[in-house]
Amino acid sequence: MKFSCALLLSGITRLAYGSDTDSLCIAPGTCQPPSDSNYEVLGRIEAVPRKQWGDSGGFCGALSIQVIGMSFGVWHSQDVIRKQAPRSDPLGHGDDTLGYEILHSNINGAMENLGFEYESWDWETQPKPQGKNYLQWMKHKLASDNGIVQFVLCKGDRHNSYGPPSDPVPYDHIEPFFKLYSFDGDGDVRDDDIVVHGSDYSPDGKDNFGYFRQFDSLLDSLDMEGNCANAGSGYGKNEMYPCIFEDQTYGTAISAIKGLDAGDIKVSLTVNATDEADVREDEPPTPLQGTLKIRGLSAGEHYVLQRFDGLGNFPIYGNTPSATYKLEGTDEDVVIWIDPVTFISNNSTLYTVVNAQ
Ligand SMILES: *[C@@H]1O[C@H](CO)[C@@H](O)[C@H](O)[C@H]1NC(C)=O
Ligand SMILES: *[C@@H]1O[C@H](CO)[C@@H](O)[C@H](O)[C@H]1NC(C)=O
Ligand SMILES: *[C@@H]1O[C@H](CO)[C@@H](O)[C@H](O)[C@H]1NC(C)=O
Repeated sequence: MKFSCALLLSGITRLAYGSDTDSLCIAPGTCQPPSDSNYEVLGRIEAVPRKQWGDSGGFCGALSIQVIGMSFGVWHSQDVIRKQAPRSDPLGHGDDTLGYEILHSNINGAMENLGFEYESWDWETQPKPQGKNYLQWMKHKLASDNGIVQFVLCKGDRHNSYGPPSDPVPYDHIEPFFKLYSFDGDGDVRDDDIVVHGSDYSPDGKDNFGYFRQFDSLLDSLDMEGNCANAGSGYGKNEMYPCIFEDQTYGTAISAIKGLDAGDIKVSLTVNATDEADVREDEPPTPLQGTLKIRGLSAGEHYVLQRFDGLGNFPIYGNTPSATYKLEGTDEDVVIWIDPVTFISNNSTLYTVVNAQ
């Protein structure tokens, strides 16, 4: 959707702990965590920014869902995500065969079809201006281990995603907002709360940690002369320093994968590439090697790691795994496990860990 989203250094930027040596971090964005170690880190702490496909309106919504999904242990190709998105009004790029571009109007349907537990901010009936309440909702969701598919304004863009000129739909781009730095956990929003997000043009900084934004710098009007006054304009700049519309906001929080009963065991997935071969541009799909970080195992206990290949074979449909591996809990908080068998990039693969029977 995004025809361009931008950036630069806000005169009122408070998060400026030196990224001047990082050419992959676009100012005024900041790509390193705050130095204050009293911050608690919450949300999808293992999410890693990734790069979207650029064809057919751009896959920013699909990419955002992919990034957050991986932090729950599931891989969905951008192709699969779009194919699970229903036709909607307003309508973006797509058709019944190729699926539809993810927008605010079809994201709930896509969430259902992809098997996510989710909640979307009620942009239709919440009182306006929504921005302040939205930030409180966002903080609460992140503090509760959710990741957010966030609809944002980008400086220099049109601030209308497929709405008629008489009734514009006020966002330009969609990004994963995945991590929260907070001094008070799930408390009231504070100016010094920090959210970490991807631009969809990873690497986001040399370490690809993402962009760190203080909550009090996020809201702006459509003029973007407030918090985003110094954001750069245009592609490759404005995505790295977006703002959230202060009057009406859109966002979808993802909390879990349907059909799993993993209790306290948490599985996150990364793969050996931060971009995905674009099968819609005739690039062949590639094998991906999955690395899992598993939390919540007890030392000496026995577990089974299950892998499911293909969305139609996911546990939500009552299927048995395509592969299983035995695991034993150790004293380590995090068990790292590398799948010896690759999966194919243009499909879906889910990992979960259950107690051994
Ligand atoms: C990922 O690793 C697998 C297994 O080693 C390899 O076949 C594949 O080419 C790698 N993919 C990328 C994009 O590097
Ligand atoms: C995805 O992979 C699964 C398992 O290999 C397979 O059954 C399914 O047909 C694939 N889906 C598509 C659309 O290729
Ligand atoms: C993925 O690519 C393979 C090989 O080109 C193809 O057979 C399969 O149908 C594709 N699967 C999906 C989900 O598009």
